[in-house]
Amino acid sequence: MSTQAVSAEALAPLDPLYDKVRHVIPDVEWAVHAGFVEQINNLKAQRNAVVLAHNYQTPEIFHCVADITGDSLALARRAADADADVIVMAGVHFMAETVKLLNPSKTVLIPDERAGCSLAESITPEDIRALRAQNPGAPVVTYVNTSAAVKAESDICCTSGNAVEVVESLGAGEVIFLPDEYLANYVAMQTDVKIITWQGHCEVHERFSAEELEQYRVEFDELTIIAHPECPPDVLRAADFVGSTAQMQSYVHRERPRRVLMVTECSMSDNVAAEIRDVEFIRPCNLCPHMKRITLANIQQCLETLRPKIEIDPAVADRARRAVERMLAVKV
Ligand code: 13P
Ligand code: SF4
Repeated sequence: MSTQAVSAEALAPLDPLYDKVRHVIPDVEWAVHAGFVEQINNLKAQRNAVVLAHNYQTPEIFHCVADITGDSLALARRAADADADVIVMAGVHFMAETVKLLNPSKTVLIPDERAGCSLAESITPEDIRALRAQNPGAPVVTYVNTSAAVKAESDICCTSGNAVEVVESLGAGEVIFLPDEYLANYVAMQTDVKIITWQGHCEVHERFSAEELEQYRVEFDELTIIAHPECPPDVLRAADFVGSTAQMQSYVHRERPRRVLMVTECSMSDNVAAEIRDVEFIRPCNLCPHMKRITLANIQQCLETLRPKIEIDPAVADRARRAVERMLAVKV
């Protein structure tokens, strides 16, 4: 595998792909990415493989090798229809597990198995059993940012894009909502259902503060601030719009604010900025170290070796799949 820069002549056939990201990737960087992009796209054809990429993947992955992109909800839905023998998840481990749950007969690969998530690590199946014992009769709604073993203990899953609808679909007076405390609080503001929370947090979104956002408002006039619901409550109060990564992306496409600050992982702004030229993006940069474990080099390697593979204990998988499929049946 080569990390050598490629000559301008050799790059010419890839120009249409570079046109998609020219605005956010300088020529010198593209010269390094181009060889990987070409080899990955050839390997995908040889392996009958598709690459799924979450909105937090870097632009050379998101715009140049991914076949399906989106937020956790879109990836879960579209994974179920993927017509391929091999699915590579350019995202974190829980996302790859969700893909495997919905495509048990396919080979599902994750380029780096260490790509975890602080929310997924904040809760165990034993924690859920204890919560159920403390709150008898309350159904458990579990954010998809959890392991398959945790999903297996749950009644239904949700994402940041459908959490309120999922909670209300249960017709219960109170629900246990876990593990993200801030998302749970945000849901509680929009429903009469009593929400029992857990103290899990996203290590990326919890670092934003309302004071920081106020300083940006002073520095940049006509600034629109849009935030992910994993942010702390004061940040959400300071924002003009709150939504999942896909809802944030749609907001910018639809509203075309003069200046926007997306209060979320950095690559999200790069990916939207690559598509839209008439909006100025103000970028406070909080990286997700787990998402950033995925690179063109390890995507290429996993397509060559068909490793690392996602495997889930069938006894866990059957119960976890039920919770994910129940979520997918809820109309949003
Ligand atoms: P979305 O479902 O909004 O894409 O969020 C996933 C995630 O991990 C956010 O940190
Ligand atoms: Fe997990 Fe936060 Fe990274 Fe999303 S951004 S994968 S919630 S640690």
